[in-house]
Amino acid sequence: MNIDIKKIKSFNDESEIINKIIVGDCLEVMKKIKDNTFDIIFADPPYNMQLQNELYRPNNTKVDGVDDEWDKFNGFEHYDEFSKAWLREAKRVLKKNGTIWVIGSYHNIFRVGNIMQDMGYWILNDVHWIKSNPMPNFKGVRLTNASETLVWAVKDKKVKNYTFNYEEMKKHNYGKQMRNDWYFAICNGAERLKDEKGVKVHSTQKPLPLLERIVLASTKKGDLVFDPFGGTCTTGVAAYKHGRNFTMVEKDENYVDWALKRFKNFQNQLTGI
Ligand SMILES: C[S@@+](CC[C@H](N)C(=O)[O-])C[C@H]1O[C@@H](n2cnc3c(N)ncnc32)[C@H](O)[C@@H]1O
Repeated sequence: MNIDIKKIKSFNDESEIINKIIVGDCLEVMKKIKDNTFDIIFADPPYNMQLQNELYRPNNTKVDGVDDEWDKFNGFEHYDEFSKAWLREAKRVLKKNGTIWVIGSYHNIFRVGNIMQDMGYWILNDVHWIKSNPMPNFKGVRLTNASETLVWAVKDKKVKNYTFNYEEMKKHNYGKQMRNDWYFAICNGAERLKDEKGVKVHSTQKPLPLLERIVLASTKKGDLVFDPFGGTCTTGVAAYKHGRNFTMVEKDENYVDWALKRFKNFQNQLTGI
């Protein structure tokens, strides 16, 4: 049976946030959520890319880089303050034996990993998402940037009984122990949300198979998955697809409305409409 997925702007207690997309600033939203609520957290925060100039391909077409307002900070100090604020709240709302995944690029992941360790998070793995179809370095002045890093961690080093579906992961690696190098294409084709003019709805929509791998590796059916930087709600779709519950937060209502359409399309596909 399809669940009626809705956006909300406020709530009175935790029962109201299950399978909902909350429109708001995650720093404010998390403050209203009680301790030890979520089984896992997946976070795809702003990367603070600091793009200096517009980028063009050799044929002079403009590259659609990440120059969104939500990715802009006044330098590293500002970015670190923001990271500390959300990671502190995330630690509080994560269950005692829960795990957190944070994805980032070379622009931010070292800073984020450092902050996490200083806060007492205990890192279980760094996972390398290797992009099978990366964007080339158009100017030829650096290596092709073909990977992003995911940090997988528990709240502190005493946590031992976190969920890791070892056998399930073996099934996804031809019967062998799953490794920390994961090969997935960047999000494109039919999966990529585009508006009526064919323009990408979101500059950093993540591939669904990546999120499905995370859900299958580190949650049980019925678990509650939290994503404070929801975007197009890839995490929610992956959770829903595999019988998990979710709570997403996203501050841009336009993305939220697209995410609702995405859920509707996904549900229609499941029911063959
Ligand atoms: C890297 S994108 C996430 C993309 C997402 N994983 C997807 O697959 O579509 C980060 C998102 O966080 C949102 N965002 C940034 N700061 C936020 C905040 N303080 N609270 C809630 N959302 C925020 C941005 O609007 C953006 O959509």
